[in-house]
Amino acid sequence: MTKRDFLAIDDLSSAELADLIALARSMKIGRYRERPLEGKTLAMVFAKSSTRTRVSFEVGAYQLGGHALFLSSRDIQLGRGELIKDTARVLSRYVDGIMIRTFDHADVEELAGNASVPVINGLTDLLHPCQLLADLLTIEESLGGIGNRVVAWIGDGNNMANSWLNAAALLGFELRLACPKDFLPDAEILARAKSKTKVLVTSDPSEAAAGAHVVNTDVWASMGQESEAEMRVAAFRDFSVTPEVMQCAAQDAIFLHCLPAHRGEEVDEAVFEGPQSRVFDQAENRLHAQKALMATLMS
Ligand code: CP
Ligand code: NVA
Repeated sequence: MTKRDFLAIDDLSSAELADLIALARSMKIGRYRERPLEGKTLAMVFAKSSTRTRVSFEVGAYQLGGHALFLSSRDIQLGRGELIKDTARVLSRYVDGIMIRTFDHADVEELAGNASVPVINGLTDLLHPCQLLADLLTIEESLGGIGNRVVAWIGDGNNMANSWLNAAALLGFELRLACPKDFLPDAEILARAKSKTKVLVTSDPSEAAAGAHVVNTDVWASMGQESEAEMRVAAFRDFSVTPEVMQCAAQDAIFLHCLPAHRGEEVDEAVFEGPQSRVFDQAENRLHAQKALMATLMS
């Protein structure tokens, strides 16, 4: 059997994605008792910080009967210049799957191309597909599915925005993005999504949020952009999710944020802590969604 990687949300078909979300739900409610990772190990290579991704993969692997190995890229030879293709081939001799969080998406593609075990993208500068699995699970629980729902993205055209575009292209829902003009999503990903579904790009958060069922944001400066933080605070000043922006959305709209969050920047405290916020369910759902992913790819 050929190995399957998960580098982008559309590495799954829409039917496979639906099955994966259903599996994650049955895991969450305790109906699933199998241990498909018995005797198996996931290597987790991190070149960037993480709380949710690291802990949810490690706990998830354990709960499925397996083991996860935390490898900081600073501590393994990759950080001293060992080639990605060599690292891929060596790790493949020991472990049954590799999760990697790094900067350049091409590095993850190179790892996947040279590994003989499944490779999972745990975030790159371009994409964060594991987060989308948890977000779709949260939408399923809160709104009964993505169906014909409208999703609004307010803020940076970053790895999360790109991942939402890929999800919209795959599943066909409407996506509206409010981004400052110099911080648009990846042009190729945007063009592809536009060719497949209804996508609006605006510089007005209220226009994006109007009638939306999901209002979504992320930090103004992602990991690796720390030196731009001050400049970004100025550029994104009008791109906060405020109670006024939430007022424009549908009455039963939910607020999502992949976390970590900066209150008073991309989201107001009142929205973050308010009744429409699902951010901690969303964080929990990383665990269930990734268990379903590991069970699908590694068993
Ligand atoms: N949302 C997310 O990926 O969080 P971490 O950076 O803590 O893993
Ligand atoms: N866009 C953020 C997501 C963090 C989970 C980053 O890349 O830092």
